[in-house]
Amino acid sequence: MTAQLIDLQPDNSTLLEESIAGLKATPRHLPCKYFYDAEGARLFEQICELPEYYPTRTEIGILKRFLPDMARLIGPRARVVEYGSGEGLKIRLLLDALQNPAAYTAIDISREQLRLAASQLSRDYPDVDIQPVCADYSSALDLPQPHHVFERTVVFFPGSTIGNFAPEEAVAMMRRFAALARQGQQPGGLLIGVDLKKSRQRIEAAYNDALGLTAKFNLNLLRRLNREVGANFQLDHWQHRAFWNERQGAIEMHLVSQREQVVHINGDSFSFTAGDSVHTENSFKYTPEEFIALAAQAGFRSAGVWTDDESLFSVHYLTL
Ligand code: AVJ
Repeated sequence: MTAQLIDLQPDNSTLLEESIAGLKATPRHLPCKYFYDAEGARLFEQICELPEYYPTRTEIGILKRFLPDMARLIGPRARVVEYGSGEGLKIRLLLDALQNPAAYTAIDISREQLRLAASQLSRDYPDVDIQPVCADYSSALDLPQPHHVFERTVVFFPGSTIGNFAPEEAVAMMRRFAALARQGQQPGGLLIGVDLKKSRQRIEAAYNDALGLTAKFNLNLLRRLNREVGANFQLDHWQHRAFWNERQGAIEMHLVSQREQVVHINGDSFSFTAGDSVHTENSFKYTPEEFIALAAQAGFRSAGVWTDDESLFSVHYLTL
């Protein structure tokens, strides 16, 4: 049986306030967590299948190959807490590898996708206490306690979603993960996917795919603002732009105004000239050493790092 979904999904007024604040700020920006409405979640699933978008398939390859080692380090009767559970594909690999997993808390901002994934998992893993929580996890959250006895808590944060947070924010977030990993009879850890630094060409191709799905995904944010908070963005007056910022160590996504225009949102008006951009996403990349140093600031030490043959992506297990 699936536990009742705990619904802490941000409402339209939060979306409105955060978007307006971002558009009034310098430089102008919009929060990337709002990409994932039903359409955005569907577009992201399609991006994961693209030849240029290497992270998903590479991470799954690393998991399939090294999960026995990871599971041995994690130990039996774990409670797994996943941030950004999405379609719920990777957790199946982890639950299959773990010895008697006790509970699984799935946290995601995309409610219908979460509901579906949780009900399918409850059917396929009847012995695991499945707890779906719909929430924006960029700030602290009160999580439900599992009904089953568990030995340790493992935070699972795959996909390199940690890259959406600036390094200081990533440390703050990992401090919260460390506090969570202390819950249980034994100290637990953090199993996290981190995209690696590589050639500009390879990174930029992943965020400028030939089919234009990443552009669609980026522009869908404006479509969402039109629908949910009554904005009047004209989608054909904006263009997707993504480039590697070497100094920051991040790929940046922007929406660039193609002409002079005024956009209205709930009584506020925003003027743009041709070439003005709205920053919609950062995706930071790290070397394994850089990431281990960042995690150390949150109190974690490295217990294992696994990569693929081309060193495109890494999975870390960090313990307290
Ligand atoms: C889901 C945050 C890992 O940053 O690569 C994909 C989102 N943005 N293409 C990423 C994304 C553009 C993705 N994460």
